[in-house]
Amino acid sequence: MTRARHLVSLSDLPDGALRSVVARAVAHARRSAAGGRAEATLVGAVVGVYFRRTSTRTRTAFSAGALRLGAGVVAYGPGDLQTNTGETTEDTGRVMAGMLDVLVARTAGDPAEMRAWAAGQRRMAVVNAMSADEHPTQALADLTTLALHFGDIEGLRVLYVGEGNNTAAALALALSRHRGTLLDLRTPPGYGLLPAVRARALAQAEQSGARVSERHDLDRLPADLDAVYTTRWQTTGTTKPDPDWRTVFAPFHVGPELMARAPKAVFLHDLPAHRGEEVAAEVLDGAGSLAFAQAENKLHSAMAVLEWCHGLD
Ligand code: CP
Repeated sequence: MTRARHLVSLSDLPDGALRSVVARAVAHARRSAAGGRAEATLVGAVVGVYFRRTSTRTRTAFSAGALRLGAGVVAYGPGDLQTNTGETTEDTGRVMAGMLDVLVARTAGDPAEMRAWAAGQRRMAVVNAMSADEHPTQALADLTTLALHFGDIEGLRVLYVGEGNNTAAALALALSRHRGTLLDLRTPPGYGLLPAVRARALAQAEQSGARVSERHDLDRLPADLDAVYTTRWQTTGTTKPDPDWRTVFAPFHVGPELMARAPKAVFLHDLPAHRGEEVAAEVLDGAGSLAFAQAENKLHSAMAVLEWCHGLD
């Protein structure tokens, strides 16, 4: 039996698989836009969807995506599993692996827990629907959005403005694998990328011929930006210990003035948005915003991820 294909981190996707998952997601999006129905490639499979934190897009995308591909879905909320009464993570994974083909999980915590579920599993694939350090399936939706809009990801020039959170980490780990791509991150002081993520993105960029940089102001933006990306300031409602954090974040608000400095750039946001906080409503709703297409692409990319986990290339 072949080993299950896990997606706990983008690093679990070899370069060829990263490109084929995005290509498959683009194909799903185009077929859907043309009014076509998905081929039932997952008939007989059962997908567990376990979300310990709130979610609108990711949970719906994986649930609807599994159903559209013909799989069955078992959904678990935060209070449903016996881990709440003391069963170990390892035992939980072992039991689920005997019953499920894929487990899509949002823990918002340490990815080690998902690695524990994945360890030694030959059948059940584990998909990280957001951990504290990385949001890999968001990056796949982002790449799908860029590929659909620009035709090619290589060579794109992207400005990321906001916290170096799990979405920013996944974006850096994804774009740094595309030749000629520029990712310029502008993160509030004290809220940058995790050092390990930055080091990995820089190493990947060196190998691929991409460029990744990070600084903590909005001075001297690169010319000819293709996209400006921001995210909510409080990832899944998390709080920040510094009571004055809003003062630190305020200069990183994406409003019309900032977008005017990138005149041909589209606007991206992983959503949910807090209008008036990280982004002005007129930017989010403006003609250059791809944010809601990006949200729909979570469905198309989730379908592509499930198919990859199921062995389709
Ligand atoms: N972008 C994203 O992960 O959205 P949800 O939190 O609604 O799943």
